[in-house]
Amino acid sequence: MTATLLDGRALAARIEASLQGEVDTFATVFHRRPRLVVVLVGDLAASGSYVKSKAAAAGRVGIDSDVVRVPASATTEELVTLVAAIARDEQGPADGILVQLPLPEHVDTVAVLDAVPPDRDVDGFHPENAGLLSQGRPRFVPCTAAGVQRMLIDAGIETAGRHAVIVGRSDIVGKPLALLLASRGPGGDATVTICHSRSSDLATITRQADILVAAVGRPRLVTADMVKPGAAVIDVGINRIAGPDGSGKLVGDVDFDAVREVAGSISPVPGGVGPLTVAMLLANTLLAAELRAGRG
Ligand code: GUN
Repeated sequence: MTATLLDGRALAARIEASLQGEVDTFATVFHRRPRLVVVLVGDLAASGSYVKSKAAAAGRVGIDSDVVRVPASATTEELVTLVAAIARDEQGPADGILVQLPLPEHVDTVAVLDAVPPDRDVDGFHPENAGLLSQGRPRFVPCTAAGVQRMLIDAGIETAGRHAVIVGRSDIVGKPLALLLASRGPGGDATVTICHSRSSDLATITRQADILVAAVGRPRLVTADMVKPGAAVIDVGINRIAGPDGSGKLVGDVDFDAVREVAGSISPVPGGVGPLTVAMLLANTLLAAELRAGRG
């Protein structure tokens, strides 16, 4: 059996088409467009490319965006001051503010992220937004976690009463996704297990998964023997490895070619969760603008 492919690009295109209409309505009513400001620190190629795709997607749905580039030498204090200035709309209205991660090692990432006001925190990383999600009253949900849940709902993959195993306990993906899948309602009501680098006998746990999510950033960590036949496998990893001809190649955390012969459905890398992360960011930016305009 070869697994059904979960096409994130096609779903993201549908989400973007519907957001475009909502953004146009916002612009008609409020005589301005929602605006996203992205802070990009340093010159990591991967971060630059993610930011470029976020700005391009914003443009496609009619959301204004601006990328504020900062040298890698910036200090924590300078970045906190910069984010505070952006939040005072000194560089134009900033409905959504996003600080692209990772930040350089000398920077206190938590201090910089905490400087983003919770009502503009379109990444959903602020403790206030994390707390709201944990209490079952989500506002800004971290984009990748929201994208995974949306993918499951769209594909008609039942979560209620099923065992979801998430490999990875990050604040960005693993933890918020566990909360979403365990919450009440569509795309929720699952029994959730979180595994991580200290979990013993990982394969025994992952083989119990009806829904297996890999979000650790380790190329091809999930092999075919770790997957229950027919399971839905969602690959959140984006890893750059050397290709056969020495060029860079993008692979996920799942050994795709082998796992697709065992799984019932599987998301590819690229073209799986990645485009949905961007689509959810656009949705969060529109929500931020609506909340600010008093309509949310
Ligand atoms: N770097 C990798 N993923 C993300 C994300 O979802 N948000 C931000 N800000 N940076 C990231």
